Amino acid sequence: ALLDSRLKPLAGRKIIVTSGPTHEPIDPVRYIANRSSGKQGHAIAAALARLGADVRLVSGPVGIADPAEVTTLHVETANEMKDAVEKLLPADAAVFVAAVADWRSETSAGEKIKKVAGEGPPALQMVENPDILAGVGHHRKRPSLVVGFAAETQDLVRNAEAKLAKKGADFIVANDVSQESGVMGGDRNRVRIVSKAGVDEWPEMSKDEVATRLAALIAERLKTVVV
Ligand code: CTP
Ligand code: CA
Repeated sequence: ALLDSRLKPLAGRKIIVTSGPTHEPIDPVRYIANRSSGKQGHAIAAALARLGADVRLVSGPVGIADPAEVTTLHVETANEMKDAVEKLLPADAAVFVAAVADWRSETSAGEKIKKVAGEGPPALQMVENPDILAGVGHHRKRPSLVVGFAAETQDLVRNAEAKLAKKGADFIVANDVSQESGVMGGDRNRVRIVSKAGVDEWPEMSKDEVATRLAALIAERLKTVVV
């Protein structure tokens, strides 16, 4: 049992992970989406499972396989992702890696919108999507550990600190996604772990290594939480 708890420190822990983009329909053939390969979120789900966690991955549309030893739920929209995540509560931890579309078209046309000569493009009325992380961070069934990501192209740490407070997260993994960083869609990542305790700067490493280190950090933090 001692050996097992060292190899599988997350055995008996239920952990929710969101990954990938969401797709917000405009009509049957068009949608609004963020850029997200799902690589980092899926790698985190896999790394948590390797440490023995019961991982529930809620994934938007991605072109990569479901991770091994993980229960994966597939969704399209932010509202579907939110419903799926909230139905999975309670959980010991939740990690929000998905690049959720901030807005959706208020209506989705039942038929393909056609170009009409002389009419110009359709004026889409956009509405804001729910913030899934903030909902869970302030939920009455809040997991004891809540981790968010912050993709920023500028003012990385300042923006991450603001998100930490606003969303009720314990950690924000701050991610430089500026053009120069080459992070988007690539296999490498350079992140900073922002918490109330301060900012921990990790060196550049592969997305798999980020996942392994983050899973170890989560295991360490949950060690003191009684099941
Ligand atoms: N997030 C979420 N639901 C949303 C938007 C974001 O759960 N509707 C989560 C993301 O999964 C991520 C964190 O919130 O863990 C931060 O996402 P980000 O897009 O960086 O922050 P926003 O609050 O949407 O702010 P902005 O896009 O304006 O920077
Ligand atoms: Ca956003």
